[in-house]
Amino acid sequence: MLVKTYSSTVFGINATTITIEVNLEIGINFYLVGLPDNAVKESQQRIKAAFKNNNLKFPGREITVNMAPADIRKEGSVFDLPIAIGILAVSKQVKLELLSNYILIGELSLDGSIQATRGVLAIALQAKQEGFKGIIVPKANALEAAVVNDLEVYGAENLAEVIQFLNQEEGGMQQIIVDVEKQFGQLIEDFELDFRDVKGQMNIKRAFEIAASGGHNVILIGPPGSGKSMLAKRLGSILPPMSLDEALETTKIHSVAGKVKGQVGIISQRPFRKPHHTISDIGLIGGGSYPQPGEISLAHNGVLFLDELPEYKRTVLEVMRQPLEDRTVNISRAKFSIDYPASFMLVAAMNPCPCGYYNHPEKECVCGPGVVQRYLNKISGPLLDRIDIHIEVTPVSFDELANSKPSEGSKEIRERVGAARTIQKNRYLLRNGIHCNAQMSMKEFEEHCNIDNAGSQLLKTAMDKMGLSARAYDRILKVARTIADLDQVENIEAIHIAEAIQYRTLDRCRWSLN
Ligand SMILES: Nc1ncnc2c1ncn2[C@@H]1O[C@H](COP(=O)(O)OP(=O)(O)OP(=O)(O)O)[C@@H](O)[C@H]1O
Ligand SMILES: [Mg+2]
Repeated sequence: MLVKTYSSTVFGINATTITIEVNLEIGINFYLVGLPDNAVKESQQRIKAAFKNNNLKFPGREITVNMAPADIRKEGSVFDLPIAIGILAVSKQVKLELLSNYILIGELSLDGSIQATRGVLAIALQAKQEGFKGIIVPKANALEAAVVNDLEVYGAENLAEVIQFLNQEEGGMQQIIVDVEKQFGQLIEDFELDFRDVKGQMNIKRAFEIAASGGHNVILIGPPGSGKSMLAKRLGSILPPMSLDEALETTKIHSVAGKVKGQVGIISQRPFRKPHHTISDIGLIGGGSYPQPGEISLAHNGVLFLDELPEYKRTVLEVMRQPLEDRTVNISRAKFSIDYPASFMLVAAMNPCPCGYYNHPEKECVCGPGVVQRYLNKISGPLLDRIDIHIEVTPVSFDELANSKPSEGSKEIRERVGAARTIQKNRYLLRNGIHCNAQMSMKEFEEHCNIDNAGSQLLKTAMDKMGLSARAYDRILKVARTIADLDQVENIEAIHIAEAIQYRTLDRCRWSLN
């Protein structure tokens, strides 16, 4: 006799349905075929023990389990549940009627309980697309899967519950229902870190407002204790809220990485990732023998904050160059390649030199000749090239720190950012996947970054006088475009260019004089 059950495996951030055929014959062997890895092969032992501990009968016949399609490598232990149910069905301990309606995933413990797994959202989306009625997942992952509309989601704690459900007996699992739209709307306003806490630093807050409005990458340079980390950590609170599509995409990546935690099914705040500077290149861009998304993909639709930038290994920073440009990262192996989305805003912070006080208004820098330049050279030109806004942070004065007058909060800033983003949304209409000014390609740049004579004259003078490099040119114009959007005006004016020029600190020649 032959029985089929259905499961799913995740490849990159998308799932593929796996059909599991269980056949019973006269004999005593157990065969598992269809490119299973070691964890799948071990399922026989787990299933046997789980059956024994739940008073179920493991058939004393020859069992062949085939997993199709045979050319996809089946990894991990999530096939325990569909194989176990297949064996129970073929030996008439579970009814067949409901089997073809549901995708089953879950690793069994020896006592029959079902362990949490990764990638459930991707699996649920695929199940819906292929017309399955529902999905049975480990209870700990049920909220994650329930984000998908029009798909029945059941969270199973143990094997016995799944059997009861499939046999349509009393006491089986309850369907998990999440009102995504409601949950999504509720969580967006909550921010722990608010710009209200930052005293003074008006010019830097303004630079952040511009960066958030246009999605520009930012680097902060300043002495220790000037508030760089403090400011950067608050960037998330002024970014515009994610759309539902963006939130689903981000949740899918976090789900694949097994990072959707707690009672939340959908991630509704833009991610803010802050990897430590000892991170490896695989940790940053993703990979590994069982490829997993890296920090740049976990930061998708959000912020990647690299504090103390020169401390990161240069090779690690270099691998980020391609994804910064393409907004996706491709991980190639001998037999396959995987794409993970990686559209993030890079925020970096650093001291200007090893002692930290180069260019400080009061303190003397004690670094020797050439040291500052060597320190800055740790960050390559091409990487710096991808950062639109350079901000020099100076410490706030005692008077400002002691001033108890409340500063402007993140909510007000976020409203202005939102208005500027709406202008950009209407301008680009998501053509070529462009959301904001920082993502403009050459074509859009030529169309939307025109300047008049006065602007052009100003830019030329600034570039000559300040010794700005050629690469600064289009960066300045893109940022000027964002400033004009914040002002809600159609044309880029000289005043916008003048402000944008301020944000090219590292291009100015004085930074290379020491
Ligand atoms: N503008 C400010 N308003 C209120 N507090 C501030 C401000 N600037 C700095 N601080 C205080 O100083 C502390 C140190 O700031 P922070 O850690 O952000 O400095 P940093 O520039 O990142 O320094 P480092 O280069 O050493 O990393 C903050 O935790 C905060 O308490
Ligand atoms: Mg810091």
